[in-house]
Amino acid sequence: MKGIILAGGSGTRLYPLTKAISKQIMPIYDKPMIYYPLSVLMLANIREILIISTKRDLPIFENLLGNGRDFGIKLEYKIQDKPNGLAEAFIVGEKFIKNDNVCLILGDNIFYGSGFSGLLEEVTSLKKGAVIFGYPVKDPRAYGVVEFDKNGKAISLEEKPENLKSNYAIPGLYFYDNTVISKAKTLKPSNRGELEITAINKKYLKESKLNVKKFGRGIAWLDTGTPEGLLEASNFVEVIQKRQGFYIACLEEIAYQKNWISKEHLLHKINELKNCDYKVYLKNLLN
Ligand code: TTP
Repeated sequence: MKGIILAGGSGTRLYPLTKAISKQIMPIYDKPMIYYPLSVLMLANIREILIISTKRDLPIFENLLGNGRDFGIKLEYKIQDKPNGLAEAFIVGEKFIKNDNVCLILGDNIFYGSGFSGLLEEVTSLKKGAVIFGYPVKDPRAYGVVEFDKNGKAISLEEKPENLKSNYAIPGLYFYDNTVISKAKTLKPSNRGELEITAINKKYLKESKLNVKKFGRGIAWLDTGTPEGLLEASNFVEVIQKRQGFYIACLEEIAYQKNWISKEHLLHKINELKNCDYKVYLKNLLN
């Protein structure tokens, strides 16, 4: 399975933070935002990853993450000319995806919690159809919303509905079989001028090939698209890291634990760093 991180967009709600720089490079406590969705793909054992962003911002991500070798993964980069919607990722990424299945994660979504890695590994074994998630939020009106029948089966999907049929929002993490490319190509822009991911999900639902898994309350899903969300996510990461002593989204740690980079490689990277907490943390991994 291939992975795509969608890290473009206009970041309107974060203006003026995003006037000159990408939202997904903003700090979430002690790391750039994109580290968090990247860590999710790595935890799902996805090692071939495409980062899509704007012409302006793509070089920053290349500068930050390089070819992925330091994290035991392979990174590619591609420009999305305009923020034409989430579903355009599969058109921009067609050559990268080739005949594989694909996982899309939004660059401003953060996931953390008990059992999350196991769940990801399970979903990655997907052969046909699609897997998306439902997450209970107080007010899901800013998201795609999924309605379930009494047996827990998804029966309807709506993008940013006024009248709610459920309080389950659909987080920015989607697993699709290869037909997602042809599905994306048939889409027409919505009223707001975007190729909607909800329209893709509706196609899978119509074919009875949409599996919507509910996230339990043990999993945190944070959306960092507003100043409030940005600060809350930083506070969340700080609290967990300080209390447990484990980092969230330390890419070198994930790569090292999965044996994707050698001890020598990690040691070499550590020695390149100037004194900082991140260096101390990485050093401790080796003990
Ligand atoms: P949104 O939060 O929907 O949009 P945005 O980031 O442009 O922000 P705003 O609403 O404040 O203007 O986007 C969700 C994620 O998807 C975010 O990480 C940006 C990314 N994205 C793209 O890369 N391309 C797109 O065409 C769109 C719509 C979003």
